[in-house]
Amino acid sequence: MGFLPPLTFEAAQAYWLEALDEIARGTRILLVSSEAGEVSGAVQLALVTKQNGLHRAEVQKLFVHTSFRRRGLARALMSAVEESARASGRTLLVLDTEQGSIAEMLYEKCGYTRAGVIPQYARIGDGTLISTVLFYKLL
Ligand SMILES: CC(C)(COP(=O)(O)OP(=O)(O)OC[C@H]1O[C@@H](n2cnc3c(N)ncnc32)[C@H](O)[C@@H]1OP(=O)(O)O)[C@@H](O)C(=O)NCCC(=O)NCCS
Repeated sequence: MGFLPPLTFEAAQAYWLEALDEIARGTRILLVSSEAGEVSGAVQLALVTKQNGLHRAEVQKLFVHTSFRRRGLARALMSAVEESARASGRTLLVLDTEQGSIAEMLYEKCGYTRAGVIPQYARIGDGTLISTVLFYKLL
């Protein structure tokens, strides 16, 4: 998700303040699912603002709370985020995820095409550099 443990309150707050600012400016969409008032999952869409990329967006930070997993919620969030992308005039979605992760399987099931693998892309908690898989989907 881009963070390294231990995640401090300050780092989380700085991230969310920036995200909320982008949401207010209309360059980011945040979708949140909830059950009985409890947040069960979320996904974000970063709308590209470059002149030549106004048809494009990046799916980011998909997560489902551990208590709500394996019930099709991630698929539902992906479907909802694609609907939001279409409504915003976006016809190309891109995303990346850790090679070998559960999410890699999920995105393939959701119809995303694998564009390639970048080695040593991100650092994880134990200091190791892991590969990332780039995906895209034409809506
Ligand atoms: C990845 C994640 C979002 C999946 O959420 P979920 O709601 O449990 O997923 P769904 O129930 O919609 O499952 C959709 C598909 O994903 C795959 N999948 C999900 N969890 C899996 C697991 N534990 N093992 C194997 N495959 C799994 C399956 O292919 C599944 O399809 P199926 O049910 O037909 O077998 C969730 O595990 C999570 O939040 N993980 C931590 C954050 C993360 O890795 N986010 C992705 C960042 S790129």
